[in-house]
Amino acid sequence: MTSNSIDSLLHEERRFPPSPDFTEGSVASPALYEQAKADRLAFWADRAREQLHWHTPFTQTLDWSNPPFAKWFADGTLNVAYNCLDRHVLAGNGDRVAIHWEGEPGDTRTLTYAELTSEVSKAANALAALGIGQGDRVAIYLPVIPEAVIAMLAVARLGAVHSVVFGGFSAESLRSRIDDASAKLVITADGGWRKGKVFPLKPAVDAALADNASTVEHVLVVRRGENDVQWNERDLWWHEVVSSASAEHEAEAFEAENPLFILYTSGTTGKPKGILHTSGGYLTQASFTHKNVFDLHPEKDVYWCTADVGWITGHSYVVYGPLANGATQVLYEGTPDTPHPGRWWEIIEKYGVTIFYTAPTAIRSFMKLGREIPDGFDLSSIRVLGSVGEPINPEAWIWYRDVIGAGKAPIVDTWWQTETGAIMISALPGITTLKPGSAQVPIPGIKIDILGEDGTRVDPPQGGLLVVSEPWPSMLRGIWGDPERFADTYWSRFSTPEAYKYFAGDGAHVDADGDIWLLGRVDDVMNVSGHRLSTTEIESALVSHPIVAEAAVVGAADEQTGQAVVAFVILRSEHADAQTPDEASTLLRAHVASAIGAIARPRQVFVVTELPKTRSGKIMRRLLQDVAEGREVGDTTTLADTAVMQIISDKLK
Ligand code: WTA
Repeated sequence: MTSNSIDSLLHEERRFPPSPDFTEGSVASPALYEQAKADRLAFWADRAREQLHWHTPFTQTLDWSNPPFAKWFADGTLNVAYNCLDRHVLAGNGDRVAIHWEGEPGDTRTLTYAELTSEVSKAANALAALGIGQGDRVAIYLPVIPEAVIAMLAVARLGAVHSVVFGGFSAESLRSRIDDASAKLVITADGGWRKGKVFPLKPAVDAALADNASTVEHVLVVRRGENDVQWNERDLWWHEVVSSASAEHEAEAFEAENPLFILYTSGTTGKPKGILHTSGGYLTQASFTHKNVFDLHPEKDVYWCTADVGWITGHSYVVYGPLANGATQVLYEGTPDTPHPGRWWEIIEKYGVTIFYTAPTAIRSFMKLGREIPDGFDLSSIRVLGSVGEPINPEAWIWYRDVIGAGKAPIVDTWWQTETGAIMISALPGITTLKPGSAQVPIPGIKIDILGEDGTRVDPPQGGLLVVSEPWPSMLRGIWGDPERFADTYWSRFSTPEAYKYFAGDGAHVDADGDIWLLGRVDDVMNVSGHRLSTTEIESALVSHPIVAEAAVVGAADEQTGQAVVAFVILRSEHADAQTPDEASTLLRAHVASAIGAIARPRQVFVVTELPKTRSGKIMRRLLQDVAEGREVGDTTTLADTAVMQIISDKLK
């Protein structure tokens, strides 16, 4: 975020108190804050008992004897899928719709809780027959179709571990994730629908496994795109294997700390981190926050979170939170503007969506198209709006409330991360007086502090670095296979032997009322359309191309996507004259997309002859960011060669 927008953010004075009718029926109550304050651990133990069915009740809430490795509810046992499925059927809600699925071409499928339970049971039996059991890793590479949810829950039901890889990632990214987790099985589809076309997925899996040297034994393929696929010995059709399996499957109980999933996310180095989440604590916080932050009344609400299941938001707020709460939800496969720019609003009207959760980047793109498009649909069912992924600017907040929320729906701006597993900072609808642009307050039971560089708490109003000061139930349990990186990345900056503090990598300002305003990442992680990308990872992709000698990548402010990837490259001398800068740029943009995935494709690639470096050889990305954002270049006195920025700026004029 630029210093300009921070200033305007902090001068935001508009306030929106909850309306009395909303407060009257709201799920959350101020008592939650009081109870959590009086006894934080007892508060979470109560939530775990209230939210979940335990096969064996736990007696221990938190074991923090070996920080930063936490155990929550460790002597309890449960089955995560049972909590999301069977128990709702047993409670008499088998006929309630769990999923209203809408395919991009307009085909639909409705699954009740009873139907979803049988589908997951069949899939669990089929996976067990393929040798999948407790602790085995299964990679899932699917479009947003019901089978994605079914596959995740079937893996969870068996006590196995899923690693969902977003369908937009490349074969290479898929392979590195398969290898890192030693996955035994890949579940994919022939293809999925996106922007009016089938995009093939199976060829990427084939390419990822082409050398037959991975740990993968089978590939289970869902038929969705009806596109032709190549068939290998290890491949099996989902409809053949799963349909013939029995719909009876008894859910076995596993320990609360049984691993549930690994989800890879970008860090500050080139290698993505496999964030590990476990069962009991994760499900407690995902379901508790889903219910209270969105004011969920499962018997009457229709909830819709637009995230892809390939991201943490899809895990916690499409799959685990809503299903554990017995919610009815919409699941949509495609893009917001296919076949017309009002598709999302049409879906809201069609299903009577009451709670809607999306990202600021989407809101800004709708703002740009104008309010006539949403105004053409009946959105009067909406009563709660949510935002996630990046700071929401007050203008977008106000537009969201006025145009989508009829000027009255409370907006919850939810701050959290892949690592935190569930929402950490958010207003509670019906309780909090809302401030546009601020994520506001830690949810009950969560301890957040804003620290200065020296580790002491800043005096509000002031900015600093955001830390979580006490362990929380849905916290990551580690980085898959790399306990040292886990300790270094998150716990080394501010922890003392007496007090372990989790450093989130975000800057934040705390105002005089104690409300928190997120200011973006303080490390080499970019946020493009709410997705995390690592500058280093893109730099390594660029230098892996034979024409590139050196590369530097920055996240430049972008009106639409929050940040955009901008790369500066030096070509190898033998190639420098062989192509025009335009040709090189086109080539390299495509190269990054194929190495990592289309989301990482740079907005611009500038060919330069030098990069600004300090005397110790560190690239000064801050200066390149100035250039990329069209600003006057800042302080260059620490550069080894102070003329270099002039050369770069002149060249790009
Ligand atoms: C950013 C997404 C401001 C933040 C759930 C964080 C936000 C990173 C917000 C995590 C928000 C997420 N306001 N910033 N409401 N929500 N972020 O792991 O920088 O994909 O560290 O998790 O997104 O991204 P991740």
